[in-house]
Amino acid sequence: IDITNLRSTTNGVITIDPGFKNTGSCESAITFLDGEKGILRYRGYSIEELAEKADFLEVAYLLIFGHLPTKEQNDKFHDDIKAQSIVDEDIKKIIEAFPKSAHPMGVISSLTSALTAFNPSSVNVNSEEDMYKSVVKILGKFPVLVAWTYRRKVGLPLDYGDNSLGYVENILKMMFSQPNACYVQSEILINALDKLLILHADHEQNCSTSTVRVVGSSHAGLFASISAGISALWGPLHGGANQAVLEMLESIKLDGGDTKKYMLKAKDKNDPFRLMGFGHRVYKNFDPRARIIKKAADEVLGNLGIQDPILDIAKGLEKEALEDSYFVDRKLYPNVDFYSGIIYRGMGIPTDMFTVMFALGRLPGWIAQWREMRLKKEPIGRPRQIYIGETERKFVPVENR
Ligand code: ACO
Repeated sequence: IDITNLRSTTNGVITIDPGFKNTGSCESAITFLDGEKGILRYRGYSIEELAEKADFLEVAYLLIFGHLPTKEQNDKFHDDIKAQSIVDEDIKKIIEAFPKSAHPMGVISSLTSALTAFNPSSVNVNSEEDMYKSVVKILGKFPVLVAWTYRRKVGLPLDYGDNSLGYVENILKMMFSQPNACYVQSEILINALDKLLILHADHEQNCSTSTVRVVGSSHAGLFASISAGISALWGPLHGGANQAVLEMLESIKLDGGDTKKYMLKAKDKNDPFRLMGFGHRVYKNFDPRARIIKKAADEVLGNLGIQDPILDIAKGLEKEALEDSYFVDRKLYPNVDFYSGIIYRGMGIPTDMFTVMFALGRLPGWIAQWREMRLKKEPIGRPRQIYIGETERKFVPVENR
C-alpha cells in the first residue's frame, strides 16, 4: 500500500484492523481464552470446574476481585448486595411508560442508564470504596430491573423479591411468582440458571465488554458504561444471537423441519441468511461453553419431562454442520448461544427476554473489566482512522449548487 495515498492526517503510522481482529485493546488479568484449544478460564479457574462447583455470586466475586471469596467475604458480599436490592419507586413510572411491546433489551438498557439519575454520586469514582459501592448497587438492583421488565411485559404485578432466598432463586421468584400464590422454585431450574449465568459471566474483550471499557474510559460511570454494553450485546451478531437462534429453529420447524434446506441457505453467498449460533470470532475449534450448555439442556428438559422438537432440530443442524466442508473449513462450530435459548424456553422465559438473561450473566464480567480499566488508569479509548474522503472543497451557497 502506498501510504501517501491514504490521506492520513497523522505523521506516524496507523494500523487499520477492521473489527479489531488482530488488535489488543488492553492487558487484562481476568479471563483467559484459547480459541484453538477451546479453553476458557476465569482468573485461572476452568469454566468447566466453576460451572460444576461454584455459584454465580462466588464467580462474580472471583471475576471482580481476582480471587475466590472466603466464607466471611462471601457473606459480606451477599449482605451488601441484598442491602442494595431496593430500587427507587420512581423507576416504576419509567417502566410503565414503555409500551408492553417494547423490546426488553431497550427497556433494560434505559433503566440501567436511569440508575445514574437516581444515584448521581455513583459517577464520582475516587477510591476503591467508591467503586465497591457502585458494584454492589448494580449487582443488587439489576436483577430487580430484569424481573420487573419481564413482569411488565407479561402483565404481572411487580414483585419485590425475598432477600432470605439465594441470589439466583430470588431472581426466579421476582420473575415467576404469581399473585396470591405460594412460591416454590424447582432446584433444577435454580441450578440450571446458576450454571447459565456462570457460563456467560465473562468473555474477555468481546463487543459489549469493549464497549463498557471504552465508555468507562471517559469516566462516564459504571451504570452508564453498562447501559452502553447492554446496547452492544443486543445485536444478533453478539448476544442477540440467542433470540435469533430460537427464532431460526422455530421457522425451520414451521417449515417442516427441513434442516438441509437451511444448511444450503447458510452456504449460499447470495443469501444473507447465516446459521445463527454458529461461528465465533475467537473459538476456532469448539466453544467450551456450548458443550456444557448442550448437556445442561438435555438434563433440564429431561428432568422437567419436556419433549421439545426444537432440541431435535438443533441437534440435527449441529450434526450436519459438523460433517459439512463449508462449516468445517471455516471452523464454524456451535457457540454458547446455540443451546442456551432451548433451556430458557424450557424455563418458560419468552424469546425476546433471552438476551436480557445473557446480560444478567455478563454483568459481573462487565463490572470486573470496568474496574480493572479504572484501577489501571487506562487512557480514554480513542481509535484513529485513515481518512479516505474528499480533499479540500470550496463551499457553494445553496442557490448556486
Ligand atoms: N453461517 C454461515 N456462514 C458463516 C457463519 C454462519 N453462522 N458465520 C461465519 N460464516 C462464514 C462467513 O460468511 C465467512 O465466509 P467467507 O470466508 O466465505 O466469506 C466466514 O464464515 C468467516 O465469517 P466472518 O463473519 O468473517 O467471521 P467473524 O469472526 O467476523 O464473525 C460471528 C463471527 C459474528 C460470530 C459470525 O460467525 C456470525 O455471524 N455467526 C452467527 C451469529 C452468532 O451466532 N453470533 C453469536 C456469537 S457468540 C456471542 O457473541 C456470545
